[in-house]
Amino acid sequence: MSEDAPLWSGRFRKPPAPEAEGLGHSLAFDERLAPYEVRASVAHVLGLRDAGLLTTSEAEALEAALAQVGAEIESGTFAFNPADEDVHSAVERGVIERLADLGAKLHAGRSRNDLVMTDLRLWMLDAHRELENGVVRLLRVLVAHARNHAETVMPGTTHGRLAQPVTLGHVLLAYAWGLARDLDRLHGWRGRASVSPLGAGALATSTLGLDPNAAAERLGFEDRFANSIDAVSDRDVVQEMLGDLAICGTHLSRLAADLIRWSDEALGWASLDDAYSTGSSMMPQKRNPDVAELARAKAGRLLGHVAALGSVLNGLPLGYHRDLQEDKEAVFDSVDTVGSVLAALSGCVETLTFHPDAMRSAAGVPGLYATDVAEALVAAGVPFREAHRRVGELLKGLDAEGRTLGDLTAGEWSAFGLPEGATLLDPDRAVAVRAVPGGPSPASVRTQADALERMLDARL
Ligand code: ARG
Repeated sequence: MSEDAPLWSGRFRKPPAPEAEGLGHSLAFDERLAPYEVRASVAHVLGLRDAGLLTTSEAEALEAALAQVGAEIESGTFAFNPADEDVHSAVERGVIERLADLGAKLHAGRSRNDLVMTDLRLWMLDAHRELENGVVRLLRVLVAHARNHAETVMPGTTHGRLAQPVTLGHVLLAYAWGLARDLDRLHGWRGRASVSPLGAGALATSTLGLDPNAAAERLGFEDRFANSIDAVSDRDVVQEMLGDLAICGTHLSRLAADLIRWSDEALGWASLDDAYSTGSSMMPQKRNPDVAELARAKAGRLLGHVAALGSVLNGLPLGYHRDLQEDKEAVFDSVDTVGSVLAALSGCVETLTFHPDAMRSAAGVPGLYATDVAEALVAAGVPFREAHRRVGELLKGLDAEGRTLGDLTAGEWSAFGLPEGATLLDPDRAVAVRAVPGGPSPASVRTQADALERMLDARL
C-alpha cells in the first residue's frame, strides 16, 4: 500500500472509502491534543528505554523528533497527510518520517486507546485550571459588589413577584455560593481525573515490561489506572466534567437572566456598561443585553453535551469502541463555552452600575412587610396561622379602600394590636433584624463575604 495508507493497513487489501475516512476523521478537532500526545509519547519512549527496548541514544532521538513534530504542529507548519485519521496517527507518522525504522519502534506496547485517554485527561486537567481561574474571577467580582452593597435594600422576589426585602449584597452572594460549589465540584473531579491510563494498551496492557507507575509519575498524574480495561473503556471522567460544566453554565445562565431583568428599563435597578451592550441595526435608541442573553442561552448546549455523551455510553459494552471518539467535541465545546461565558459575564458584572435608589424605592412597597407584621403578631403570642389570616384581612380591607399598610394611622395600628406597627415598614430595620447566619442583613452579608474570600484566598 502507498505511504498515504493508514498506519494499520498491513492486513487490508483496499484503502478506506473516502466517505468512511471522512466519517472517522477526528484530526480536525483532536489536533488540539497534539502537545499532550507529544508529552504522552515522550513518557512512553522513556518507558521503552527503561524496559531495555530502546538505547539511551535511540530514546533521545525519538524525544527530539517528537519535540520537532510538536513544534511544527503548534506553528502550523506540520504537513498533515490525508491518511492521518487522528492526532495520534499524525504524530506517529511524523516521527516515522523523520526516523524511519527507529520511528517505527515508538508504538510498541501502546495503543491509541490508552493514548487518547492519556491525552484527554491531561488536556482536561489543564483546561480545568483555567476554568477554575475564570470562576474565581467572577466570584471575586460578585463578592466585591456585595461588600459595597451590603446595606442596599431591594425587594427579594419569589415567583418573580415582590416578596420580602433583602439586601443586594445578599442576592449577589446567593450567586457566589452557587459558583463556590461549582469550584468545589471541579476540585473534587480533579482527583478522579488525575489518573494515568498509559500502559493499559488496547485493553490488556502489554508483554513488554512497561511500568504504568513510572509513566504516571512522568506525566504528573497522581495515580495510575487500577484496571486496564476500565482505563480505556470508561468516560465517566468526561461525563463528570460535562456535568460540572453544565451545572456551572446553568448558574451563569440564571445570573445572566437577573442582569437582563435588573437592567430592564421598566425596572431600572442596574445599567449595563456600553462595552457589554449592543445596539440595534434599526432602532437607534436601543442598548440590548446581548452578552447576558448569550450567557443565558449557552447553558442549553452544555446540557446537550451531557445528554449526547450519556446516550453514547448508555448500553455500550466494555472495551474501546469508536463510539467513544464522540466524547471530545462535547468536552472541547463545553470547556470553550464556559470559558468564554465566564470571561464575558465577569466583565459584564464588574462594569455593571447598580441603582440603589430605584431598588430602595421598589422596596418601599408596604406589602413587602406584611410578613413582618404577621411575625410581630406571632411574637406577641398570636398563632401564626391566625396572624396570617388577620394580616390578610387587614390588607383586603385596605385594598378595598385604595389604601396600603403605609396609610395606617397610629390609632389603627394600636387597634390591630401592634402600636409600633408603622416601624415594621422600615426597609433598613427589616433587613437588619434578619441577622441570623445566612440571612440578608448587612452584617450577615459581610460575614458571608469574609467566608468566601477566605475560601478563595486558601486556594492560592
Ligand atoms: N480518535 C480515536 C478516539 O478519539 C482514538 C482512538 C482510536 N482507536 C482505535 N482503536 N480506532 O477515540
